[in-house]
Amino acid sequence: MSRRAEILDEMGLSPRWTLREGFVRTLPTAAPGTVTGAPAAADDARSPDTHAVPAAVDAQDRGAAIMQMGWTPLAEAVAGCTACPLAATRNCTVFGVGDRQASWLFVGEGPGAEEDERGEPFVGQAGRLLDNMLAALGMKRGDDVYVANIVKCRPPGNRVPAAAEVAACEPYLHRQIQLLQPKVIVALGKTAAVTLLGKEQSIASMRGKVFRYRDTPLMVTYHPAYLLRTLPDKIKAWEDLCFIRERVAEWRAGAAQDLQSPG
Ligand code: URA
Ligand code: SF4
Repeated sequence: MSRRAEILDEMGLSPRWTLREGFVRTLPTAAPGTVTGAPAAADDARSPDTHAVPAAVDAQDRGAAIMQMGWTPLAEAVAGCTACPLAATRNCTVFGVGDRQASWLFVGEGPGAEEDERGEPFVGQAGRLLDNMLAALGMKRGDDVYVANIVKCRPPGNRVPAAAEVAACEPYLHRQIQLLQPKVIVALGKTAAVTLLGKEQSIASMRGKVFRYRDTPLMVTYHPAYLLRTLPDKIKAWEDLCFIRERVAEWRAGAAQDLQSPG
């Protein structure tokens, strides 16, 4: 494809990607591809109604309080959060959006300028690319897909969030994951992958492998904003998404078989 055509494609101004059967090469799987030990079910009805986390509580108490929250208190806690310096410069917090029963959770780094204006993740140019990639897979946000970020407030100038900011915000994403119980977490880019896995590694070395975040399978691919700058790697991201989709289909088939088998 010419560079011009690729740029039009990114902007969502050309036909969407089409799925070609037999295209994806099979990549090695690093860990057994079964979903085990799903966390206990949680929902608003059973969660205590603890909306505000007092500013003075220490990090451990704050984390414990967040781990008890249902969706509504959690969203309210994020909306009023001042736990890290990013609170001072944000316009909107960006909680996350989508199907609260989603199989797929996509995790980015943090809101950019448009997200900070609108309060929704991935609504700028990178978000349009993400939506186009989802559409090419026959998926869309809100339908078996949830989209969130590592930090809920925009780092000024779109800098990478600092370690202390990531640490302050992590309990919210952890609770979102507990409530969602997704079949897979897709870490978009290095910040999300390294934060969730707790280990410094390159995206190139992590692609095509199944990791875990606590009990949930986690796989990685390039961040859409990186893909906008590095067009040739779009094909690799497409391979990654197809690989992930194959694993999810396998786990679904395995789970269905487990349900059917006697005893
Ligand atoms: N980049 C991200 O990582 N997240 C967004 O929500 C938007 C851009
Ligand atoms: Fe709170 Fe997270 Fe925003 Fe920091 S980035 S103020 S921890 S919501």
